[in-house]
Amino acid sequence: MCGIIGITSNKPVSSAIINSLKKLEYRGYDSAGIATLSNGFINEIKSEGRVDNLEKNLINKKIEGNIGIGHVRWATHGIPSTINAHPHSSETVSVVHNGIIENSTKLKEYLISRGHIFKSQTDTEVIVHLITEYLKENDLKKSILKMLGKLQGSFALGIIFKDQPDLIIGARRGSPLAVGYGPNENYLGSDSYALKSMTNKISYLNDGEFCIIKKNQVEFFDEKGKKINKKVLELSSDEKNYDKGDYKHFMAKEIEEQPLTIKNCVKEYIDNINNDINIYNFPWKKEEINSLTLIGCGTAYNSCLTAKYWFDEMTNLDVNVDVASEFRYRKNKFKKDNLYIFVSQSGETADTYAALDLCNKNKMKTASIVNVIESSIARDSNFVLPIHCGPEIGVASTKAFLGQMLVLYILVLKLSFLREELKKDNYIQKIKSLKQLPDLVEKTIMSQNKIQLVANTFAEAKGSMFLGRGLSYPIALEGALKLKELSYTHAEGYPAGEMKHGPLALIENGMPVVVLAPRDSYYSKITSNMQEVIARGAKVLLITNKNKDDVVSENIWETIEVEDTNVDLLPFLLTIPLQKLAYYSALKKGYDIDKPRNLAKSVTVE
Ligand code: M6R
Repeated sequence: MCGIIGITSNKPVSSAIINSLKKLEYRGYDSAGIATLSNGFINEIKSEGRVDNLEKNLINKKIEGNIGIGHVRWATHGIPSTINAHPHSSETVSVVHNGIIENSTKLKEYLISRGHIFKSQTDTEVIVHLITEYLKENDLKKSILKMLGKLQGSFALGIIFKDQPDLIIGARRGSPLAVGYGPNENYLGSDSYALKSMTNKISYLNDGEFCIIKKNQVEFFDEKGKKINKKVLELSSDEKNYDKGDYKHFMAKEIEEQPLTIKNCVKEYIDNINNDINIYNFPWKKEEINSLTLIGCGTAYNSCLTAKYWFDEMTNLDVNVDVASEFRYRKNKFKKDNLYIFVSQSGETADTYAALDLCNKNKMKTASIVNVIESSIARDSNFVLPIHCGPEIGVASTKAFLGQMLVLYILVLKLSFLREELKKDNYIQKIKSLKQLPDLVEKTIMSQNKIQLVANTFAEAKGSMFLGRGLSYPIALEGALKLKELSYTHAEGYPAGEMKHGPLALIENGMPVVVLAPRDSYYSKITSNMQEVIARGAKVLLITNKNKDDVVSENIWETIEVEDTNVDLLPFLLTIPLQKLAYYSALKKGYDIDKPRNLAKSVTVE
């Protein structure tokens, strides 16, 4: 989704801004722009499409200046176009904005009545005109405070001023914003990825705060304009993870990284010698938690749904799962003995953050499972369990999904053991199986030769279905989500037992249907459901685990076998052919695999 960068320096900044915008490309966007100050003028250049287009534009119109702001835009108000791209500028001020200004229509009416002329269809432009208006009668800091006081909605802002050759304003409400520190230059960025190539020294703004950045000084203020102090954090350096290496796409790389990311995560949580789980500094006693609510969006939500099956199987805890965008507006019954767990790869998803914020405001126990440990969700939760995957750049989540399920599974085992619901022998046995998981994931990745051929049929079909039962049901949802996200074809995930209650009507001759039928307690049930769709003409791709008993393969179009392991861990292995199915379907269609249309990696607006 939208991304911000700002730099004030003692040397020209335009190429550093372009490089940082390229780091933000993974977020998904439809236009890009840059504004710098030179000789008392604001120079603004914007392009529709990729940052490459903007870069080409810059070759023709050289843009000078030691201070500037840049932006990649994901359209909310107004179509993706050059005119709607950020920055938006008046003669006095230039603004980049992430988020949505909910009262922009009202503000626009007021500003038009004061003689302001609008160029774009964006909500952002009201910010430009508000500051321009307030600067007529107020100093800079007062104008900023007045402008911030008028805005409703969520935002992260970067602002430069015609008369201020060394000053950038950053302001945050709801959307993340970071400040970076360099030698004789300082930076503003919508996340630390954008700043990592320039510095590893970062501070984060909290909601309501703003900052004044100069090349040798940064000052932070609260919402009333009172000066505050900020911690400077040092980030670890993992630049190599931002490189595709020999892979054609980040998604392909990230699928193949999974044995390693699982191994790293297992290493972080498993005590190899004692076959125990280490979760240090868990802030609550076991008696203090009687129920759980697991909350996430998209793929993260699917990982929560999977975990519910494990919790139900191995604990007596009451477990609810909710989509963050529903939870945040639901009339919730907040309970003191409930632990609210927020799952998010980026840790910046607006709905998930809002759900967490709501729980924090109601003084609930909150924990998060995230990949980005410097993220807003991690910072604002009482307790954090990282998934240790390294940066995930492909918009379609792959290694983070396995990482989220893994940490949830580890938590289930630990809580269940502590609550004396899982006996020691069983606990140790499950931990031992878990230690085999990286190898099993690797073998499953290596053995998926058939999938490319099968994927061609899914790519060309009008629509497809993904069926599962029990633990395989959330994996069916995830498989369908991945396919629609990447190949832009209709795909539905269903609990197979629901087919007769409506969806069976969709089955017609030749329709591809994935049936996830591992050898678990649902096997005989789901194979019956499979025969019902075959009888109505479906082309079934059966995905199961290797087993001494052969599959009764009557009328099955294709069968794919994943490695065998204990049933708890099969969701990890069943996911892999589905990731590849989506990847190859999109490849066949020639679509942009790492940046599917209309989507963003980090969904920072609701
Ligand atoms: O960063 P998050 O895990 O909070 O993101 C949640 C969803 O936006 C994300 O999982 C989305 O569904 C993926 N693009 C699916 O592949």
